[in-house]
Amino acid sequence: MHLPVYFAPLEGVTDAAFRRVHSEHFTGVHKYFIPFVSPTQDLVFTPREKRNILPEYNQGYTAVPQVLTRKADHFLWAANHFADMGYGEVNLNAGCPSGTVTAKGKGSGMLTDIPGLERFLDEVMAKSPLPVSVKTRIGFTSPAEFERIMEVYNQYPLHELIIHPRTRSQQYEGRANKFIYRDALAASPLRIVYNGDLFTAEDCRRHAEENEKTAALMLGRGLIGNPALAQELSGGERLTKEAFISFHDALMQAHADFHPRNVVFGRMKEFMKYAVCSFEDFDKPRKKLRKAANMDMYLDAVHRLFDEHDISETPGYEP
Ligand SMILES: Cc1cc2nc3c(=O)[nH]c(=O)nc-3n(C[C@H](O)[C@H](O)[C@H](O)COP(=O)(O)O)c2cc1C
Repeated sequence: MHLPVYFAPLEGVTDAAFRRVHSEHFTGVHKYFIPFVSPTQDLVFTPREKRNILPEYNQGYTAVPQVLTRKADHFLWAANHFADMGYGEVNLNAGCPSGTVTAKGKGSGMLTDIPGLERFLDEVMAKSPLPVSVKTRIGFTSPAEFERIMEVYNQYPLHELIIHPRTRSQQYEGRANKFIYRDALAASPLRIVYNGDLFTAEDCRRHAEENEKTAALMLGRGLIGNPALAQELSGGERLTKEAFISFHDALMQAHADFHPRNVVFGRMKEFMKYAVCSFEDFDKPRKKLRKAANMDMYLDAVHRLFDEHDISETPGYEP
């Protein structure tokens, strides 16, 4: 497949340790999107945000920081810092479905106030020191909202527009709406990136064949599930068990360098929630991993998985 592949930001999974270890073990990812920072009134990055965004934690690959805010001045404050740090792009989160976020008009909440979104983009596009890309959903409650939303985006010279074709109401349920995506793609002068439910190499190849204008694919759960997915798509080696185990162990060590055992357990369990799907007959091990209540139970479950199950024919993610 010829399309560039981007790693989607997943708060709680694709943190700095994950991105570093992933980029050291696998090829094929053109950009890693960093989970959002959300500026507050006092305009300081929290220690946790700093561990995610400072350049020293993002060496060896191309990273794109993301901002969750509805205030143009807060976005510009962050963008100016990112420019000073040497980043080449800043991304706006207009997709987050969480109730606490949307209640403040942020994330996909921005899609409920079209004049507000226009004012935001007017100011940000006029003053941003960096090219601005946007990651959006197709509406808050209905896909019918997307036509108007696209009219807004299409007015601006966005660096890229990443479309996750679900509404906020869908959260991550139901299906990504391919038809709405196709219509928006056909009518837009922008560089459009597709994101949503591409879980295997076959899914990605099919999307590329059916949507010639798509400029890049952004992969989240599929690329966590099969960490060699981008590598395979760009002509490199398919996922092997040796490569998986080596990645798994390095990731666990990287978390252990920074965090106590219970935090390492939580991070690894979250990662394996997706990655267990890359093994044959993963139903039982998935249940065992779900039940794991501490690190010992987790290690017991993964060691069994590694001993008794091979990598499946179609590694990826299954909801
Ligand atoms: C646990 C979790 C955390 C996420 N965190 C972010 C985030 O920080 N910023 C963002 O834009 N999207 C976030 N997303 C959305 C993903 O980037 C992506 O759009 C979504 O998973 C759909 O893509 P996929 O089907 O390839 O996984 C998150 C999704 C999940 C499940």
